[in-house]
Amino acid sequence: MINNRIYEKRRAAVARALKAAGGGIALLPTAPEVPRNRDSDFPYRHDSYFYYLTGFSEAGAWLAIEASGKSTLFCRPKDLEREIWDGIRLGPKAAPAALGVSQAFSVEALEKTMPQLLTNQPAVWFPFATHKGLETQVDGWLNQVRARVRFGAECPGSQHDLCKVLDEMRLVKDSHEVAILRRAGKISAGAHVRAMQTSAALLRDGVKGGLREYHLEAELLHEFRRHGSQFPAYGSIVAAGANACVLHYRAGDAELKDGDLCLIDAGCELDGYASDITRTFPANGKFTPAQRTLYDIVLAAQKAAIAVTRPGKRFTDPHDAATRVLIQGMLDTGLLPKAKHGKVDDVLESGAYRQFYMHRTGHWMGMDVHDCGDYTEPRSKATLQTDALGLQVMRKPSRILRAGMVLTIEPGIYVRPAKGVPKEFWNIGIRIEDDALVTAKGCELLTRGVPVDADEIEALMRD
Ligand code: GLY
Ligand code: MN
Ligand code: MN
Repeated sequence: MINNRIYEKRRAAVARALKAAGGGIALLPTAPEVPRNRDSDFPYRHDSYFYYLTGFSEAGAWLAIEASGKSTLFCRPKDLEREIWDGIRLGPKAAPAALGVSQAFSVEALEKTMPQLLTNQPAVWFPFATHKGLETQVDGWLNQVRARVRFGAECPGSQHDLCKVLDEMRLVKDSHEVAILRRAGKISAGAHVRAMQTSAALLRDGVKGGLREYHLEAELLHEFRRHGSQFPAYGSIVAAGANACVLHYRAGDAELKDGDLCLIDAGCELDGYASDITRTFPANGKFTPAQRTLYDIVLAAQKAAIAVTRPGKRFTDPHDAATRVLIQGMLDTGLLPKAKHGKVDDVLESGAYRQFYMHRTGHWMGMDVHDCGDYTEPRSKATLQTDALGLQVMRKPSRILRAGMVLTIEPGIYVRPAKGVPKEFWNIGIRIEDDALVTAKGCELLTRGVPVDADEIEALMRD
């Protein structure tokens, strides 16, 4: 049973935003079904914006919201033959009571009804550049309205990006969303614990053909699914040894050997919400001194980032705090020789740390693992700034964190073999990632059901 009130409130907020901008109508399709091969589709996943406003996850649906607050749903009609093969459809007759929309039609009536809904609206809002062919479809409907102008119809005079409104709303999570994110984080943490323990046990007891990345991926998927998660939130990374230095590596069949580190970046999607956790652990349960040295640097960097994740701080503050700690560690370990690179500020200036740390420390997370939302402060003025590539760009200051925002905190160090880099660190890749909910005074880590402290990981893997 869908909790209508949540979605009604969100649709009402969209209507208010339309009204405040001079009125109009917002249109939004859900995601299409995507063929995988011949007549088999990829598992269906709704469009996040659409789901955010309806809680409805059937394919083939559309939503329209007018500034007056009236909402119209288009959905697949009841069809006994199709329902025998593909499953029960809600159907337009049951939709108003089930979803709380003002009215509902069969999606077969879309082409006829949309021009009617658009008639006499001052503006049309739809998500720009997210649905292939949508602009052309809207153009077609507007054309039909225009054809009736000489009979007194008025055609919308402006088009706006609906994402702008929805992105701002989605950036700050409500209590319903936070509850799901907490559950998703807990399930994913349990999956990481299971993978760590399985790794140690299989290495100790031996497994035919050797311990492989896919063995641990199977443990993750098992744990996600047995707790009701519908999908992984993204392709799971299970990286043995040097594979951890490939940032977007996907779990393959590489062997995890005694003495290797294993980096797992995996999280489940639960009821439309993501989780995103990375842990790096010794496959056999015991860090080597070189692995432990780098691990403790990354952990200290994450701690520094967490300490500045609170309301009033900017989105870039955790990254800046983590980067300073990582650089200090690179200088202390000789990854960046002090004689050549100087002090932390010199390395920040030169960018030499990017050889070992080439990504940002976090991103928004929510319905999408890399969630929507501006990373700059919309209410501030743009000024001339230097970007990460050294280019001069007009940019607004980084977003100020507010309670209800959710972001990941994921520093790392990746050491590819190279001249001048101490050999003991070659092929070590470490990332530690947790999901943080900004609270009134600080942040709550949603994913600490799996330890991060090296001693605690070793203890867990011994049990
Ligand atoms: N798992 C994707 C990321 O960490 O951004
Ligand atoms: Mn992430
Ligand atoms: Mn991740």
